[in-house]
Amino acid sequence: MRTLQFLLSVFLFSFFAMAQIPSSLNLMPVPAKVQVGTGQLVVDQAFTAVSTGRKDDRLDWGISRFLDQVSRQTGMQLNAQPAAASNATLVIRAENAGRKVQELDEDESYTLEITASRATLTAPNALGALHGLQTFLQLIDPTPAGFAVPVITIQDQPRFAWRGLLIDVSRHFIPIEVLKRNLDGMAAVKMNVLHWHLSDDEGFRVESKRFPKLQELGSEGQYYTQAEIRDFVAYARDRGIRVVPEFDVPGHSRSWMAGYPELASVPGSYRAGRIADADTVMDPTRDGTYKFLDKFIGEMAGLFPDAYFHIGGDEVTNKPWDSNPKIQEFIRAHGMKNNRDLQAYFNQRLQKIVSKHGKIMMGWDEVLHPDLPKTVLVESWRGQDSLAEAARQGHRGLLSYGYYLDLMWPAARHYAVDPMTMTMTMTKPGAAAALTTEEQKRILGGEACMWSEFVTPETIESRIWPRLAAIAERFWSPQETRDNQSMYQRLDEVSWRLGWLGLNGVSKYESNYATMLHRLAGSHDIAALRLLADVVEPTKDYTRTEVFPQPPVKSTPLNRLADAARPESTVARQFAELVETYLQSGYKDSAAEAQIRAWLVKWRDNDANLKAVLDRSFLLAEDKPLSEDLATLATAGLEALDSIGKNQPLPDAWCTAQLAVVERSMKPRANLLVMVAPPIQKLVEATASSH
Ligand code: ACM
Repeated sequence: MRTLQFLLSVFLFSFFAMAQIPSSLNLMPVPAKVQVGTGQLVVDQAFTAVSTGRKDDRLDWGISRFLDQVSRQTGMQLNAQPAAASNATLVIRAENAGRKVQELDEDESYTLEITASRATLTAPNALGALHGLQTFLQLIDPTPAGFAVPVITIQDQPRFAWRGLLIDVSRHFIPIEVLKRNLDGMAAVKMNVLHWHLSDDEGFRVESKRFPKLQELGSEGQYYTQAEIRDFVAYARDRGIRVVPEFDVPGHSRSWMAGYPELASVPGSYRAGRIADADTVMDPTRDGTYKFLDKFIGEMAGLFPDAYFHIGGDEVTNKPWDSNPKIQEFIRAHGMKNNRDLQAYFNQRLQKIVSKHGKIMMGWDEVLHPDLPKTVLVESWRGQDSLAEAARQGHRGLLSYGYYLDLMWPAARHYAVDPMTMTMTMTKPGAAAALTTEEQKRILGGEACMWSEFVTPETIESRIWPRLAAIAERFWSPQETRDNQSMYQRLDEVSWRLGWLGLNGVSKYESNYATMLHRLAGSHDIAALRLLADVVEPTKDYTRTEVFPQPPVKSTPLNRLADAARPESTVARQFAELVETYLQSGYKDSAAEAQIRAWLVKWRDNDANLKAVLDRSFLLAEDKPLSEDLATLATAGLEALDSIGKNQPLPDAWCTAQLAVVERSMKPRANLLVMVAPPIQKLVEATASSH
């Protein structure tokens, strides 16, 4: 027994627990097991890849895209000659054919073995092989001997079977080609579900042949034809991604009423659009509503092959039901207590319809009710407690709470959220941690959400990427993969690589960022504007909604600095790390100090250069106070450094004045925050304690 334990521990030790992935490897998501050897396999123009396993078109096309990508990453044409398996550089073997329609329970594991002379990728089916190819791409780096991948053995499989991204195409319509680029990005980080939020108050985005007034009157001409949808679903399938449609009912459904007002709880005429205090909810008391939904879902079930069908169910407001006496009478007559019981009644009838058309119903966590059939999959967006509660009641569930990309949080904050263990504050275990093993098995994974009130086709990728890669890692990698420093190091790397996929605005080096800054500045040089833009972030949570005099509509221009600025400032994060290093060193790290000083000098002097640009553009006038405060903060930081260096304390009044600027800078102005304020605050505060 002892010997066995010893052997087992040697065996386990020989694999890096992924929390300790070697820093030379920039894999994201981190694989389950990695064993690094010595040496490398050169990737030169003679590089070839051959599939020897079960024939699967997805894999053949995947290999073809993989070779294109190798070419793009290395800037080299590869010799296009197909090789025999015996002398191919990379031999790929998928043992079995995948299912015709990709399923939740398919095995996505793979093993990648790279020696100095060749590489072998094996997987139970094409899905794992596709993931393995993405890993291979992340391993390619330049070396003195040419491009190469390290000698390595990777055994990998996902922690969660459901690793999704929701994209809302109702609030702002997002064209198919933009969505396809995002599918490419998702595949690169091994995500496997695109949750397509296709209808909401603002727009109905799918062509229905049975109910054409849905798109004709509910979309302002911005919708996907059925042919486009089929093509998109096939594109996703080729990349190992399932497409789950969502048609949000009975609330969030104003766009349906534009063409079919009889569905509404309150008689009237409706138009699609976001109108304050005018929530529209379907009438669940009319048989006609169910007849309509039956035909509609029947049509959509044929269009979307996935087994799952999301019916929304969130945020059903009381007013439309309360204000209709007929509906309140229905509630009483059926022995229901309230509107929530009525929604449960609606959901039960809906579930039968969805099931009749061969689909498994999903809904947001408001659908949870003792009468809800246990087959319904519950997606928690209001907190982790509902995820645990759903699992306890016998439902399978997904976590979205904590993964809302529209809230502009830093990657680390999303990364800290775990479907199984932690709340996002990380101060107490999540409710799911108290579940039995059986109940925990019902938690299938999670979904990041890109709600589109404040994004356009131009900006959406900069809001999804690169932060989504950190969430992808949370869903794929072993639970103990939690190191923020390692995550950020690899995130910076993956950003570059995503750039090769043509994703817009992924990293600060991307052209779309500069283009947007040029729009703001007109014909002026953007260097000074960029220095400011690099250290600000859009306001967090739902504050932008509050600042607008009215809820944004499609025509609200999204062309301000808040739209160009990245959700997470890399410069501010790195500056904060420098300050931390300097303070931790007891003010002795002179290299860190020199770098801090260099940044502060740039920021102090920038306002003078930027003023002329800000003065000349109506779009930039609102950013003047931010630029001035950045200069003031930088000056304070420099004075603090001098005070610390000379060991000469500054007066309390000085400190108080600087902290007021810090406070102002961290309050939303022009929908922006100056993100270097907190580390400068630390320098200011250090003047008091450094002596
Ligand atoms: C939601 O965010 N209302 C699901």
